Amino acid sequence: MKTQVAIIGGGPSGLLLSQLLHRAGVDSVVLERRSRDYVLGRIRAGVLEQGLTDLLRHAGVGARMDREGEIHDGFSIAVGGRELRVDLAGLTGGKTVTVYGQTEVTRDLYAAREAMDGAVITQAEDITLHDLTADRPRVTFVKDGAPHTLEAAFVAGCDGFHGVSRKSIPADILREYEKVYPFGWLGILSETPPVAEELIYARHDEGFALCSLRSRVLSRYYVQCPLDDRIEDWPDDRFWAVLKSRLPGDVAARLVTGPAIEKSIAPLRSYVAEPMRYGRLFLAGDAAHIVPPTGAKGLNLAASDIHYLSRALIACCRDGSEQALMDYSARALARVWKAERFSWWMTTLLHRFPEDGAFNHRIQQAEFDYLLGSRAAQTALAENYVGLPYA
Ligand code: APR
Ligand code: PHB
Repeated sequence: MKTQVAIIGGGPSGLLLSQLLHRAGVDSVVLERRSRDYVLGRIRAGVLEQGLTDLLRHAGVGARMDREGEIHDGFSIAVGGRELRVDLAGLTGGKTVTVYGQTEVTRDLYAAREAMDGAVITQAEDITLHDLTADRPRVTFVKDGAPHTLEAAFVAGCDGFHGVSRKSIPADILREYEKVYPFGWLGILSETPPVAEELIYARHDEGFALCSLRSRVLSRYYVQCPLDDRIEDWPDDRFWAVLKSRLPGDVAARLVTGPAIEKSIAPLRSYVAEPMRYGRLFLAGDAAHIVPPTGAKGLNLAASDIHYLSRALIACCRDGSEQALMDYSARALARVWKAERFSWWMTTLLHRFPEDGAFNHRIQQAEFDYLLGSRAAQTALAENYVGLPYA
Protein backbone atom coordinates (compact mmCIF):
# COMPACT_ATOMS: atom_id res chain seq x y z
CA MET A 1 0.00 0.00 0.00
CA LYS A 2 1.09 3.56 -0.70
CA THR A 3 -0.23 6.89 0.53
CA GLN A 4 1.02 10.44 1.03
CA VAL A 5 0.53 10.59 4.81
CA ALA A 6 0.41 7.52 7.08
CA ILE A 7 -1.54 8.53 10.20
CA ILE A 8 -0.96 6.41 13.29
CA GLY A 9 -3.95 6.53 15.66
CA GLY A 10 -7.66 7.01 15.00
CA GLY A 11 -8.52 9.28 17.94
CA PRO A 12 -9.66 12.87 17.39
CA SER A 13 -6.17 14.04 16.27
CA GLY A 14 -5.66 11.40 13.60
CA LEU A 15 -9.22 11.55 12.24
CA LEU A 16 -9.29 15.34 12.08
CA LEU A 17 -5.95 15.38 10.28
CA SER A 18 -7.09 12.83 7.69
CA GLN A 19 -10.31 14.78 7.14
CA LEU A 20 -8.50 18.12 6.64
CA LEU A 21 -5.96 16.50 4.29
CA HIS A 22 -8.73 14.86 2.29
CA ARG A 23 -10.48 18.18 1.76
CA ALA A 24 -7.25 19.62 0.39
CA GLY A 25 -6.73 16.66 -1.95
CA VAL A 26 -3.97 15.01 0.08
CA ASP A 27 -4.20 11.25 0.49
CA SER A 28 -3.85 9.50 3.86
CA VAL A 29 -4.43 6.18 5.60
CA VAL A 30 -5.33 6.03 9.31
CA LEU A 31 -4.12 2.99 11.28
CA GLU A 32 -5.91 2.44 14.60
CA ARG A 33 -5.09 -0.34 17.02
CA ARG A 34 -8.53 -0.61 18.59
CA SER A 35 -12.04 -1.07 17.20
CA ARG A 36 -14.18 1.95 16.42
CA ASP A 37 -16.61 1.03 19.21
CA TYR A 38 -13.77 0.94 21.71
CA VAL A 39 -12.55 4.39 20.64
CA LEU A 40 -16.11 5.75 20.91
CA GLY A 41 -16.57 4.23 24.36
CA ARG A 42 -13.96 6.48 25.95
CA ILE A 43 -15.44 9.39 27.89
CA ARG A 44 -13.30 12.53 27.85
CA ALA A 45 -13.77 16.25 28.46
CA GLY A 46 -16.11 18.36 26.42
CA VAL A 47 -15.18 22.04 26.41
CA LEU A 48 -14.21 23.24 22.92
CA GLU A 49 -12.31 26.45 22.18
CA GLN A 50 -13.33 28.58 19.23
CA GLY A 51 -10.16 27.54 17.37
CA LEU A 52 -11.33 23.93 17.52
CA THR A 53 -14.94 24.64 16.58
CA ASP A 54 -13.75 26.71 13.59
CA LEU A 55 -11.42 23.89 12.56
CA LEU A 56 -14.23 21.31 12.78
CA ARG A 57 -16.45 23.49 10.60
CA HIS A 58 -13.60 23.98 8.13
CA ALA A 59 -13.20 20.19 8.05
CA GLY A 60 -16.92 19.86 7.25
CA VAL A 61 -17.82 18.16 10.53
CA GLY A 62 -19.38 21.04 12.49
CA ALA A 63 -23.07 20.62 11.68
CA ARG A 64 -24.17 18.47 14.64
CA MET A 65 -21.91 20.38 17.01
CA ASP A 66 -23.56 23.62 15.88
CA ARG A 67 -27.01 22.09 16.45
CA GLU A 68 -26.43 20.26 19.72
CA GLY A 69 -23.46 21.97 21.35
CA GLU A 70 -24.09 24.61 24.00
CA ILE A 71 -22.37 27.97 23.89
CA HIS A 72 -21.04 28.97 27.33
CA ASP A 73 -20.02 32.56 27.97
CA GLY A 74 -18.89 32.00 31.55
CA PHE A 75 -18.25 29.54 34.38
CA SER A 76 -17.86 29.71 38.17
CA ILE A 77 -15.16 29.00 40.70
CA ALA A 78 -16.27 28.39 44.29
CA VAL A 79 -13.77 28.41 47.15
CA GLY A 80 -14.45 28.49 50.88
CA GLY A 81 -17.94 29.99 50.68
CA ARG A 82 -17.06 32.57 48.03
CA GLU A 83 -17.91 32.32 44.35
CA LEU A 84 -16.42 33.99 41.30
CA ARG A 85 -18.26 33.99 38.01
CA VAL A 86 -15.71 34.27 35.25
CA ASP A 87 -17.42 36.30 32.54
CA LEU A 88 -15.57 34.77 29.58
CA ALA A 89 -17.32 36.84 26.94
CA GLY A 90 -17.11 40.11 28.84
CA LEU A 91 -13.42 39.66 29.65
CA THR A 92 -12.30 38.55 26.19
CA GLY A 93 -14.28 40.78 23.83
CA GLY A 94 -17.02 38.26 23.17
CA LYS A 95 -15.21 34.92 23.06
CA THR A 96 -17.01 31.82 24.33
CA VAL A 97 -16.52 28.05 24.58
CA THR A 98 -18.76 25.26 23.27
CA VAL A 99 -19.80 22.36 25.49
CA TYR A 100 -19.92 19.26 23.25
CA GLY A 101 -18.41 15.92 24.26
CA GLN A 102 -15.16 14.69 22.78
CA THR A 103 -16.92 11.36 22.16
CA GLU A 104 -19.40 13.20 19.92
CA VAL A 105 -16.59 15.00 18.08
CA THR A 106 -14.93 11.63 17.44
CA ARG A 107 -18.23 10.06 16.33
CA ASP A 108 -18.80 12.91 13.83
CA LEU A 109 -15.25 12.51 12.52
CA TYR A 110 -15.68 8.75 12.00
CA ALA A 111 -18.99 9.37 10.19
CA ALA A 112 -17.35 11.97 7.93
CA ARG A 113 -14.40 9.72 7.09
CA GLU A 114 -16.82 6.91 6.27
CA ALA A 115 -19.00 9.15 4.09
CA MET A 116 -15.93 10.09 2.06
CA ASP A 117 -14.60 6.53 1.84
CA GLY A 118 -11.62 7.60 3.90
CA ALA A 119 -9.15 4.82 4.59
CA VAL A 120 -9.37 4.07 8.31
CA ILE A 121 -7.98 0.65 9.21
CA THR A 122 -9.08 -0.36 12.70
CA GLN A 123 -7.78 -3.30 14.74
CA ALA A 124 -4.37 -2.94 13.10
CA GLU A 125 -1.89 -4.82 15.29
CA ASP A 126 1.88 -4.61 15.78
CA ILE A 127 2.23 -1.23 14.11
CA THR A 128 5.95 -0.51 13.59
CA LEU A 129 7.55 2.56 12.02
CA HIS A 130 10.62 2.16 9.76
CA ASP A 131 13.11 4.42 7.95
CA LEU A 132 11.77 7.64 9.47
CA THR A 133 14.82 9.61 8.37
CA ALA A 134 14.76 8.24 4.80
CA ASP A 135 12.82 9.66 1.83
CA ARG A 136 10.13 6.99 1.96
CA PRO A 137 9.32 5.87 5.49
CA ARG A 138 7.31 2.64 5.91
CA VAL A 139 4.81 1.41 8.43
CA THR A 140 4.28 -2.31 8.91
CA PHE A 141 1.27 -3.82 10.68
CA VAL A 142 -0.82 -6.95 10.96
CA LYS A 143 -4.51 -7.00 10.06
CA ASP A 144 -6.64 -10.15 10.46
CA GLY A 145 -3.47 -12.17 10.88
CA ALA A 146 -1.88 -10.98 7.61
CA PRO A 147 1.20 -8.71 7.48
CA HIS A 148 0.99 -5.41 5.54
CA THR A 149 3.34 -2.59 4.58
CA LEU A 150 2.25 1.02 4.09
CA GLU A 151 4.68 3.35 2.29
CA ALA A 152 4.26 7.10 2.71
CA ALA A 153 6.01 10.43 2.25
CA PHE A 154 5.21 11.39 5.87
CA VAL A 155 4.11 9.72 9.09
CA ALA A 156 1.82 11.56 11.55
CA GLY A 157 2.09 10.17 15.08
CA CYS A 158 -1.41 10.72 16.49
CA ASP A 159 -1.48 7.59 18.65
CA GLY A 160 -1.88 9.12 22.09
CA PHE A 161 0.32 8.92 25.16
CA HIS A 162 0.83 5.14 25.02
CA GLY A 163 1.37 4.90 21.26
CA VAL A 164 4.42 3.70 19.30
CA SER A 165 5.23 6.91 17.44
CA ARG A 166 6.95 8.85 20.21
CA LYS A 167 8.77 5.68 21.26
CA SER A 168 10.20 5.43 17.72
CA ILE A 169 12.25 8.60 18.30
CA PRO A 170 15.77 7.73 19.56
CA ALA A 171 16.27 8.40 23.27
CA ASP A 172 19.23 10.71 22.66
CA ILE A 173 17.05 13.03 20.56
CA LEU A 174 13.81 13.08 22.58
CA ARG A 175 13.65 15.31 25.67
CA GLU A 176 10.83 14.67 28.11
CA TYR A 177 9.40 17.02 30.75
CA GLU A 178 7.00 15.61 33.27
CA LYS A 179 5.08 16.41 36.44
CA VAL A 180 2.87 13.81 38.07
CA TYR A 181 0.30 15.10 40.56
CA PRO A 182 -0.30 13.23 43.83
CA PHE A 183 -4.03 12.63 43.24
CA GLY A 184 -6.54 11.59 40.60
CA TRP A 185 -10.00 12.55 39.37
CA LEU A 186 -12.93 10.26 39.88
CA GLY A 187 -15.53 11.07 37.20
CA ILE A 188 -19.10 9.96 36.73
CA LEU A 189 -21.66 10.41 34.01
CA SER A 190 -25.29 10.37 35.10
CA GLU A 191 -28.59 10.79 33.31
CA THR A 192 -29.70 13.64 35.54
CA PRO A 193 -30.27 17.33 34.80
CA PRO A 194 -27.03 19.26 35.45
CA VAL A 195 -26.98 21.17 38.74
CA ALA A 196 -26.25 24.45 36.94
CA GLU A 197 -26.31 25.77 33.39
CA GLU A 198 -22.61 26.63 33.56
CA LEU A 199 -19.60 24.69 34.81
CA ILE A 200 -18.69 25.05 38.50
CA TYR A 201 -15.11 24.38 39.63
CA ALA A 202 -14.89 24.07 43.43
CA ARG A 203 -12.07 23.84 45.94
CA HIS A 204 -12.75 22.58 49.42
CA ASP A 205 -10.27 21.73 52.18
CA GLU A 206 -10.95 18.05 51.43
CA GLY A 207 -10.23 18.52 47.72
CA PHE A 208 -11.40 19.62 44.29
CA ALA A 209 -14.81 19.05 42.69
CA LEU A 210 -16.22 19.90 39.25
CA CYS A 211 -19.80 20.08 37.99
CA SER A 212 -19.89 19.76 34.22
CA LEU A 213 -22.46 18.58 31.70
CA ARG A 214 -23.02 17.07 28.31
CA SER A 215 -26.63 18.13 27.75
CA ARG A 216 -29.78 19.19 29.60
CA VAL A 217 -30.29 15.55 30.67
CA LEU A 218 -26.72 14.30 31.05
CA SER A 219 -24.36 15.46 33.80
CA ARG A 220 -20.64 14.93 34.29
CA TYR A 221 -19.19 15.35 37.79
CA TYR A 222 -15.70 14.87 39.23
CA VAL A 223 -14.06 14.77 42.65
CA GLN A 224 -10.37 14.73 43.52
CA CYS A 225 -9.43 11.32 44.98
CA PRO A 226 -6.30 9.54 46.20
CA LEU A 227 -4.26 7.99 43.38
CA ASP A 228 -4.50 4.46 44.71
CA ASP A 229 -8.30 4.47 45.08
CA ARG A 230 -10.23 1.98 42.95
CA ILE A 231 -13.70 2.26 41.41
CA GLU A 232 -14.97 -0.33 43.94
CA ASP A 233 -14.10 2.14 46.72
CA TRP A 234 -16.63 4.57 45.30
CA PRO A 235 -20.22 3.31 45.26
CA ASP A 236 -22.62 5.95 43.88
CA ASP A 237 -23.85 7.00 47.34
CA ARG A 238 -20.35 7.79 48.53
CA PHE A 239 -19.59 9.75 45.36
CA TRP A 240 -22.70 11.94 45.71
CA ALA A 241 -22.06 12.55 49.41
CA VAL A 242 -18.45 13.62 48.81
CA LEU A 243 -19.41 15.79 45.83
CA LYS A 244 -22.11 17.57 47.86
CA SER A 245 -19.75 18.15 50.77
CA ARG A 246 -17.34 20.02 48.47
CA LEU A 247 -19.90 22.27 46.76
CA PRO A 248 -21.42 25.52 48.03
CA GLY A 249 -24.49 24.74 50.17
CA ASP A 250 -27.07 26.13 47.74
CA VAL A 251 -25.57 24.16 44.86
CA ALA A 252 -25.42 20.94 46.91
CA ALA A 253 -29.05 21.41 47.90
CA ARG A 254 -30.11 21.61 44.22
CA LEU A 255 -28.07 18.61 43.06
CA VAL A 256 -30.15 15.85 41.48
CA THR A 257 -28.50 12.46 41.98
CA GLY A 258 -29.03 9.20 40.12
CA PRO A 259 -27.20 6.04 39.07
CA ALA A 260 -23.79 6.51 37.46
CA ILE A 261 -23.80 5.22 33.88
CA GLU A 262 -20.02 5.53 33.69
CA LYS A 263 -17.40 5.85 36.41
CA SER A 264 -13.65 6.09 36.02
CA ILE A 265 -10.52 7.28 37.79
CA ALA A 266 -7.85 9.19 35.89
CA PRO A 267 -4.40 10.24 37.11
CA LEU A 268 -3.31 13.85 36.56
CA ARG A 269 -0.13 14.49 34.66
CA SER A 270 1.69 17.29 32.86
CA TYR A 271 4.01 16.01 30.13
CA VAL A 272 5.76 17.40 27.05
CA ALA A 273 8.06 15.62 24.59
CA GLU A 274 10.40 17.70 22.43
CA PRO A 275 10.94 17.97 19.54
CA MET A 276 7.62 17.02 17.95
CA ARG A 277 9.42 15.98 14.78
CA TYR A 278 11.96 13.29 13.92
CA GLY A 279 12.87 13.03 10.23
CA ARG A 280 9.58 12.44 8.42
CA LEU A 281 7.64 11.64 11.60
CA PHE A 282 5.51 14.41 13.12
CA LEU A 283 3.84 13.99 16.54
CA ALA A 284 0.49 15.59 17.38
CA GLY A 285 -1.93 15.56 20.31
CA ASP A 286 -1.54 13.26 23.31
CA ALA A 287 1.35 11.47 21.57
CA ALA A 288 3.47 14.55 22.33
CA HIS A 289 1.90 16.13 25.40
CA ILE A 290 -0.51 15.61 28.28
CA VAL A 291 -2.19 18.24 30.45
CA PRO A 292 -4.13 17.70 33.67
CA PRO A 293 -7.86 18.06 32.80
CA THR A 294 -8.45 21.11 35.02
CA GLY A 295 -8.31 23.65 32.18
CA ALA A 296 -10.03 21.31 29.67
CA LYS A 297 -7.13 21.81 27.27
CA GLY A 298 -6.29 18.24 26.11
CA LEU A 299 -8.45 18.07 22.99
CA ASN A 300 -7.98 21.77 22.27
CA LEU A 301 -4.21 21.39 22.17
CA ALA A 302 -4.52 18.41 19.87
CA ALA A 303 -6.58 20.67 17.60
CA SER A 304 -3.96 23.42 17.39
CA ASP A 305 -1.29 20.83 16.57
CA ILE A 306 -3.50 19.49 13.80
CA HIS A 307 -4.16 23.00 12.52
CA TYR A 308 -0.41 23.66 12.13
CA LEU A 309 0.42 20.17 10.89
CA SER A 310 -2.37 19.92 8.30
CA ARG A 311 -1.38 23.25 6.76
CA ALA A 312 2.29 22.29 6.71
CA LEU A 313 1.61 18.90 5.09
CA ILE A 314 -0.76 20.45 2.54
CA ALA A 315 1.82 23.13 1.63
CA CYS A 316 4.44 20.44 1.13
CA CYS A 317 2.30 17.92 -0.75
CA ARG A 318 0.69 20.53 -3.02
CA ASP A 319 3.48 23.08 -3.62
CA GLY A 320 6.60 21.24 -2.47
CA SER A 321 7.27 23.89 0.18
CA GLU A 322 8.92 22.32 3.24
CA GLN A 323 9.31 25.46 5.37
CA ALA A 324 6.13 25.05 7.42
CA LEU A 325 7.04 21.43 8.15
CA MET A 326 10.46 22.55 9.36
CA ASP A 327 8.78 25.12 11.64
CA TYR A 328 6.05 22.75 12.87
CA SER A 329 7.64 21.53 16.09
CA ALA A 330 8.70 24.96 17.37
CA ARG A 331 5.37 26.51 16.44
CA ALA A 332 3.25 23.82 18.04
CA LEU A 333 5.42 23.72 21.18
CA ALA A 334 5.14 27.46 21.74
CA ARG A 335 1.38 27.09 22.14
CA VAL A 336 1.66 23.75 23.99
CA TRP A 337 3.84 25.23 26.73
CA LYS A 338 1.42 28.10 27.36
CA ALA A 339 -1.45 25.64 27.74
CA GLU A 340 0.76 23.49 30.00
CA ARG A 341 1.39 26.54 32.17
CA PHE A 342 -2.30 27.39 32.34
CA SER A 343 -3.39 23.80 33.13
CA TRP A 344 -0.73 23.51 35.84
CA TRP A 345 -1.79 26.87 37.30
CA MET A 346 -5.48 26.01 37.41
CA THR A 347 -4.67 22.60 38.92
CA THR A 348 -2.50 24.26 41.58
CA LEU A 349 -5.20 26.80 42.41
CA LEU A 350 -8.00 24.29 42.84
CA HIS A 351 -6.64 21.08 44.40
CA ARG A 352 -5.63 19.97 47.82
CA PHE A 353 -1.98 18.95 47.71
CA PRO A 354 -1.44 16.36 50.46
CA GLU A 355 2.21 17.31 50.94
CA ASP A 356 1.58 21.07 51.14
CA GLY A 357 2.21 22.96 54.33
CA ALA A 358 0.45 25.98 55.78
CA PHE A 359 2.42 28.45 53.66
CA ASN A 360 1.32 26.97 50.33
CA HIS A 361 -2.25 26.82 51.56
CA ARG A 362 -2.19 30.55 52.35
CA ILE A 363 -0.68 31.31 48.92
CA GLN A 364 -3.52 29.35 47.34
CA GLN A 365 -6.04 31.44 49.28
CA ALA A 366 -4.27 34.66 48.29
CA GLU A 367 -4.34 33.59 44.64
CA PHE A 368 -8.14 33.20 44.79
CA ASP A 369 -8.49 36.48 46.69
CA TYR A 370 -6.49 38.22 44.00
CA LEU A 371 -8.68 36.73 41.27
CA LEU A 372 -11.82 37.87 43.06
CA GLY A 373 -10.61 41.44 43.25
CA SER A 374 -8.70 41.94 40.03
CA ARG A 375 -10.18 42.26 36.57
CA ALA A 376 -6.65 41.91 35.16
CA ALA A 377 -6.22 38.52 36.87
CA GLN A 378 -9.66 37.41 35.65
CA THR A 379 -8.79 38.51 32.12
CA ALA A 380 -5.63 36.40 32.18
CA LEU A 381 -7.69 33.40 33.30
CA ALA A 382 -10.43 34.04 30.73
CA GLU A 383 -8.16 34.51 27.71
CA ASN A 384 -6.45 31.22 28.45
CA TYR A 385 -9.71 29.37 29.14
CA VAL A 386 -11.27 30.41 25.83
CA GLY A 387 -7.99 29.50 24.13
CA LEU A 388 -4.96 31.52 23.05
CA PRO A 389 -4.90 32.38 19.34
CA TYR A 390 -3.32 30.01 16.83
CA ALA A 391 -0.15 31.96 16.02
N1 APR B 1 -1.06 1.93 16.87
C1 APR B 1 -2.20 2.52 16.40
N2 APR B 1 -3.03 3.23 17.15
C2 APR B 1 -2.68 3.38 18.42
C3 APR B 1 -1.52 2.83 18.98
C4 APR B 1 -0.68 2.07 18.14
N3 APR B 1 0.42 1.49 18.60
N4 APR B 1 -1.45 3.18 20.27
C5 APR B 1 -2.54 3.92 20.50
N5 APR B 1 -3.30 4.03 19.41
C6 APR B 1 -4.57 4.75 19.24
C7 APR B 1 -5.46 4.70 20.47
O1 APR B 1 -6.23 3.51 20.50
C8 APR B 1 -6.31 5.93 20.26
O2 APR B 1 -7.52 5.65 19.57
O3 APR B 1 -4.32 6.11 19.03
C9 APR B 1 -5.47 6.87 19.42
C10 APR B 1 -5.03 8.11 20.19
O4 APR B 1 -6.16 8.84 20.58
P1 APR B 1 -6.21 9.77 21.88
O5 APR B 1 -5.53 9.08 22.99
O6 APR B 1 -7.61 10.18 22.04
O7 APR B 1 -5.29 11.02 21.48
P2 APR B 1 -5.54 12.22 20.47
O8 APR B 1 -6.24 11.76 19.23
O9 APR B 1 -4.26 12.94 20.36
O10 APR B 1 -6.62 13.11 21.20
C11 APR B 1 -6.32 14.14 22.08
O11 APR B 1 -7.46 15.18 23.93
O12 APR B 1 -8.89 15.48 25.74
C12 APR B 1 -7.70 14.94 25.31
O13 APR B 1 -6.59 13.03 26.18
C13 APR B 1 -7.69 13.50 25.50
O14 APR B 1 -8.02 11.84 23.88
C14 APR B 1 -7.77 13.07 24.05
C15 APR B 1 -6.88 14.01 23.43
C1 PHB C 1 -15.82 17.51 31.36
O1 PHB C 1 -16.96 17.94 31.08
O2 PHB C 1 -15.58 16.30 31.31
C2 PHB C 1 -14.80 18.48 31.77
C3 PHB C 1 -15.07 19.82 31.74
C4 PHB C 1 -14.13 20.75 32.14
C5 PHB C 1 -12.89 20.30 32.57
C6 PHB C 1 -12.60 18.95 32.59
C7 PHB C 1 -13.56 18.03 32.20
O3 PHB C 1 -11.97 21.21 32.97
